[in-house]
Formats: sequence, C-alpha cells, structure tokens
Amino acid sequence: MSSARINNSVYNTLGDRWYQAYDDPIALLRAESRLLGPWILKTMREKELLSPHVIDLGCGGGFISNFLARNDCQVTGVDLSLESLEVARKYDETSKVRYLQRDVCKTGFPDKSFDVAVSCDVLEHVENPRLVVEEARRLLKPGGLFFFHTFNRTLLSKLVTIKLVEVLVKNTPRYLHVHSMFIQPKELETWCLRAGFSSCVFFGVRPSLASLLDPSVFRGVVPKNLAFKFCKSMLNSYAGFAVGNLERKPLGARRWFGGNCAAGSSKKSGGGDASLAPPNPPLPICPKWLTHYLRSFLQTPCSKA
Ligand SMILES: C[S@@+](CC[C@H](N)C(=O)[O-])C[C@H]1O[C@@H](n2cnc3c(N)ncnc32)[C@H](O)[C@@H]1O
Repeated sequence: MSSARINNSVYNTLGDRWYQAYDDPIALLRAESRLLGPWILKTMREKELLSPHVIDLGCGGGFISNFLARNDCQVTGVDLSLESLEVARKYDETSKVRYLQRDVCKTGFPDKSFDVAVSCDVLEHVENPRLVVEEARRLLKPGGLFFFHTFNRTLLSKLVTIKLVEVLVKNTPRYLHVHSMFIQPKELETWCLRAGFSSCVFFGVRPSLASLLDPSVFRGVVPKNLAFKFCKSMLNSYAGFAVGNLERKPLGARRWFGGNCAAGSSKKSGGGDASLAPPNPPLPICPKWLTHYLRSFLQTPCSKA
C-alpha cells in the first residue's frame, strides 16, 4: 500500500486549533491523550522510571510531550511538521521540552539515548511503521519502554474511525486515515519482537459511551467531556507498550495481551505471566464472536492499566 494518499499536511494548518477546536477530529486526539498521557506516566512510575528521558516520536502539537514534561520527565519531541512543533512549544508550560524537526524513522540520535519512547497515533501515518519500531528500539537503553497507540485494520475500524468520523465530525479531511495503513496487533507484536523487544502488552481503547451522549455530537462537534477508556476489544484501536531486552536478544519469547490490568499496573509485571494469556485470539465471524466482541467492548477491565 502506498502512503501517498494519507493527509499528513493537515497538521501543518491547525495552529491553536490543536488545543482549542472541538469542531475538528483533533479534539478526538486531544481527548485520547487525556487517557494515554496519565497511563504512560503511571506505567513508567510503576517501573520505577521516576524522571525518565522520553522521546515522543511524532509529537504533533505536544499533547503527550507537554503532559509528561509537567510531570517531571525530560522530554524530546520530534515531528516532521514545523508548524505543529511551534504549537507544541507554545503550549509547553515548562519551556523544557526539546522540540526538533526529525523523521520518526531516522531521528539521528545516538543509540541508547532514552529511557522511554512514545509513538501515539503515528505508526498508521508513516509508510513503513516497522522502521519506527526499530528506531524506538535503537534509541532505548536496555530495559526501556516503547509506548504506542494505533488502529487495528478491521471492518469496525473502517466504519468507526474512518467513515463515522468523516460523517460526524466537522472539518474531517479525506484521507486523515487510510485503512490499509492500519496495523493489526499481531503485526506490531512481530515487529517489536523482531526489533529486539522482549515482550509486548496490548489494551483495547474505546470512547466512553456515556461521554458520547451529548447533543453536540449532532452538530458535528466533539463533546468537551469526551473520555476514552481501556477495554478488552482491540478491534478498533489499541495501545500498549513493548519492553526492551536487558541484553539485546532479538525474537524474545514472551508476550502479553491486555484484558488484564496486571500487565500494565502491577509492579510484579516485569515478566511474562501465564495468567495473562491472550484473551482475544483471532475470532471467527459468527454469533459467538459477536457476543464475545460486544461483551468485551463494553467491559472496561483495564481502566486502571
Ligand atoms: C495524529 S498526529 C499524532 C500527534 C501526537 N503523537 C499525539 O498523539 O497527539 C500524527 C503526527 O505524526 C507526524 N508525522 C507523520 N509522519 C511523520 C514522520 N515520518 N516523521 C515525523 N513525524 C511524522 C505528523 O506531522 C503528525 O504531527
């Protein structure tokens, strides 16, 4: 699939709308960052990374970078969009984030420069996301963490993340997302393990249905209180993290799938755990699957992940 169609230039024109607009899909990203930022911070603290050096790969307007900087992290945010970096800098209350124009596939920093790498809503915007995973692995110190959020390549994500957003949210450009660039968790897991990460944890992410029940939705405006939460189902979008090997050993053996808070929240979760066996193996399309899916989509087992 060629990435030629994806509209990455839309981020250059947002200006303050990164932080202020509700009549724009950027408000969805902003709401999502209110889940992801605190989750990343909490996970880092659980792993005893107390003032880590973080690289935010594809930081955009700096939602996550600026949040982490306010919470005692040393942050470097990189993005191709100079205009977005300018906004990110403007909204950095600490004035401590180092914002630089770099390609996420080739940042140019030395090996092992960072404790943590973050790439939220970026993998599905680049032609070869595997290179981003490899770059994150290269940049991390042994045992470092790579956090991500992206969209699964399913019929549901095509309907919800592409079609429904185009219909419901004002100012959604065409090709904000390209379905064939979405990534299945299995693919991402393989790339992580091949790059030399030892394990991966995945959690489904979805909007809170209660926060969607707002009349503004019918005016093409994203509700101000829109909230995202973790869930079992990864059929639409998912987040997770990969753990760097202490010694570089590609194709590590362990993996976790979410659906269990322990993976992201327990101090003891430094290794694989048989109780974290994948709850969501590939499911056939049948009524049983539908029941399973609806049940898992509505549950929030990882809200504390
Ligand atoms: C959907 S935004 C996500 C921004 C941010 N990570 C967040 O969660 O708010 C995608 C960002 O990826 C950036 N981007 C796309 N391709 C890139 C590349 N090859 N190198 C650096 N940044 C890139 C875009 O400029 C845009 O800011």
